[in-house]
Amino acid sequence: MKLTNILDIEGLTFRYPEAPKEAVSHFDLHVPEGEIVVLAGPSGCGKSTLLRTVNGLIPHMYSGDYSGEVKVAGASVKGTDMRDLSQRVGFLFQNPENQIFMFTVERDVAFGLENIGVPREEMRGRVDEALRLLGIASLAQRAPHELSDGQKQRVALAGVLAMRPRLVILDEPTSLLDPKTAGDLVALVAGLRKELGTTFVVVEHRIDLLVKVADRLVVMSEGKKVLEGTPRDVLFGEEAESYGVATPSVTKLQKMLAHDGLATGGALLSPAELARELEERQR
Ligand SMILES: Nc1ncnc2c1ncn2[C@@H]1O[C@H](COP(=O)(O)OP(=O)(O)OP(=O)(O)O)[C@@H](O)[C@H]1O
Ligand SMILES: [Mg+2]
Repeated sequence: MKLTNILDIEGLTFRYPEAPKEAVSHFDLHVPEGEIVVLAGPSGCGKSTLLRTVNGLIPHMYSGDYSGEVKVAGASVKGTDMRDLSQRVGFLFQNPENQIFMFTVERDVAFGLENIGVPREEMRGRVDEALRLLGIASLAQRAPHELSDGQKQRVALAGVLAMRPRLVILDEPTSLLDPKTAGDLVALVAGLRKELGTTFVVVEHRIDLLVKVADRLVVMSEGKKVLEGTPRDVLFGEEAESYGVATPSVTKLQKMLAHDGLATGGALLSPAELARELEERQR
């Protein structure tokens, strides 16, 4: 059996109307099911535009010059209508306020399911499951607008998961969150991948938070893919910083120690890993 990737982007180029240059240019990306991919790069390099070509906002809602192909589970995004796409690709906006509509958390999480006409009984089950997965069952009857940012983010994500998408794309999901809550969200993403096999493509500036759970780091610059590899390989190379990717401080420290012959190569991504390496060298 030939395995189909959950996401295939081939030769994708997109230019917004009137824009002087392409926002995404000759872009290729292939993501096997179950991976967590982080997309990084300087502001304006085309990350959000690329995500829009995956959830279908481009070309279905935004016009422009479009060439190349984006496929989700083998089906062309261009050839699939938005209603079908909404069930295939879960999408979390940067600001959860844009995704919260109803008077109770429970109704809000059910919103997408109601839209696609899921029978009441099944809806009940899916909403309960999503609330449980996100650890917010106790908030079911609360009003979403009176929750904290981190809680709102979870409600929005529960609404996305209730649709049971195989692919979820997140555009800077931690930007409104404090470090602790952001860390919790990342742990949640890792847990969902493990429990449900969901694939995630995440745009994130706080690389240090995500590299520990990511399988792959893709760096963009001026619409093009310039680096791709395991977070370890990409971050230990010299180029990542020149594209504005913030090297985690533990990786920087380890590079310095390696330079002085006090540690070996291979980018370490967490303080625990570095401590272990230093401990072993003392033996
Ligand atoms: N709706 C739009 N109409 C016209 N041009 C746009 C539109 N949205 C984005 N652009 C342009 O496309 C390019 C890529 O923008 P995009 O928002 O994809 O970048 P980004 O990598 O997500 O940046 P950031 O990190 O700031 O969110 C930029 O030059 C931007 O000005
Ligand atoms: Mg963006």
